[in-house]
Amino acid sequence: MPSSDQINRIVVADPAALAVTAAGRLMTRIEANSDRIAICLTGGSSPKQLYQLLATDAYAKTIPWDRVHWFIGDERFVSASDPLNNMSTARKLFLDHFAPKDHIHPIPTDVATPDESATRYERQLQTFYGAGDLDPARPLFDLVLMGVGPDGHTASLFPGYPALAETKRWVVGVPEAHVEPFVPRVTLTLPALASCREMLFEVAGKEKRAILARLSKDESLPANRARSIGETVFLVDQAAIGK
Ligand code: 6PG
Repeated sequence: MPSSDQINRIVVADPAALAVTAAGRLMTRIEANSDRIAICLTGGSSPKQLYQLLATDAYAKTIPWDRVHWFIGDERFVSASDPLNNMSTARKLFLDHFAPKDHIHPIPTDVATPDESATRYERQLQTFYGAGDLDPARPLFDLVLMGVGPDGHTASLFPGYPALAETKRWVVGVPEAHVEPFVPRVTLTLPALASCREMLFEVAGKEKRAILARLSKDESLPANRARSIGETVFLVDQAAIGK
């Protein structure tokens, strides 16, 4: 796993423990903010257990739904009814049961192109934030959830792609994915994702072992370049680290 001193590494037994630990950290971030809260969710399969857990009484009855806003760090450019749609998965697993509709902020995919979608989502984020420039003293998100793909991508920031070098835009279109599913993507950029109090990576399973080993050698992969201006946490299970 990444070796940098600035990373908080937490190793847990298995995916179930990983979901409980991630839920605990999410609750801590919520409790730390008595004002409006912004959480940036992620896609892929890794966060599904966490989302299911958040729908259980222990969490659902504690989350101040009227103060929390839910965003997504990247989206597959498919319709909201497509099972591949990241935000629709989160909606089905927990958000639609508890969150006020106007607190759920999906990346729009019912527009002509990923670029148009990116422009609209950037505008939504900037309206929510109340400015077009990110101020390090006032992070955009309380918590940003992230996953790691087999090629070291995170969100839809793929190795060697121009989106990775973006310094001004908050959201960009990605015409072609580097790994499955091979559909165009829309992704928040490194500076937008960095603007958070905590960035929490969830990495589980033996199929993540090879990429975790590469990340721990400090390879310049997207998942090693995505860092919070606050705290960055790698939450991994035993199978992923190979013990
Ligand atoms: C996506 C993602 C992506 C994901 C990683 C890990 O839309 O695919 O947001 O960055 O988090 O590929 O995916 P898994 O959790 O399925 O391993």
